Amino acid sequence: MTVDADVTVRPMRWWDIAPAAAMEERLFPRDAWRAESFWSELAQYDSRHYVVAERDGAVVGYAGLAAAAGEADVLTVAVDAAGQGRGVGSRLLRELLAEAERRGCADVLLEVRGDNEPALTLYERHGFERVGARRRYYADGEDAIVMRRRKARRADG
Ligand SMILES: CC(C)(COP(=O)(O)OP(=O)(O)OC[C@H]1O[C@@H](n2cnc3c(N)ncnc32)[C@H](O)[C@@H]1OP(=O)(O)O)[C@@H](O)C(=O)NCCC(=O)NCCS
Repeated sequence: MTVDADVTVRPMRWWDIAPAAAMEERLFPRDAWRAESFWSELAQYDSRHYVVAERDGAVVGYAGLAAAAGEADVLTVAVDAAGQGRGVGSRLLRELLAEAERRGCADVLLEVRGDNEPALTLYERHGFERVGARRRYYADGEDAIVMRRRKARRADG
């Protein structure tokens, strides 16, 4: 895989909301988050960690984590179509997993559409396992796959 070295990952700020919401509409036409949702998420800064990937000053991806009481959830990972397949999604996900670790979360959970092969593969590559399904969870009848990544236990206990 070609890794995109020109991309930097940094915390999401309010001025990233407009480009992120526009990207949502392109990537999730069925159920895109509107700008209001991003504002609400960023306001919960004590339990959330949102990051953006930036190339040449433009937002090309974003990702968000919720963390509370020792458990974390990946809320979203998204990379603009033109920049996919170059390692940006992996970088964003690694940053979320590092934050979950910093916040002392043993498990990281997520839900993903059962027909989203790129995302299922991305998550499996990063140690997530399928632990369940929510039947017909999405409005169009698609199942949600529940995935979990357990913190690696140290061999010496
Ligand atoms: C899922 C998504 C975030 C992956 O981002 P990306 O930058 O393309 O991913 P990467 O280049 O880091 O690839 C990571 C791994 O994902 C898998 N992958 C990526 N694109 C894939 C595709 N089109 N088909 C199958 N596997 C794919 C690969 O296994 C890849 O690792 P490998 O090259 O070592 O095999 C991106 O496709 C996306 O934004 N999709 C639309 C939004 C979405 O569905 N988000 C997830 C649900 S919230």
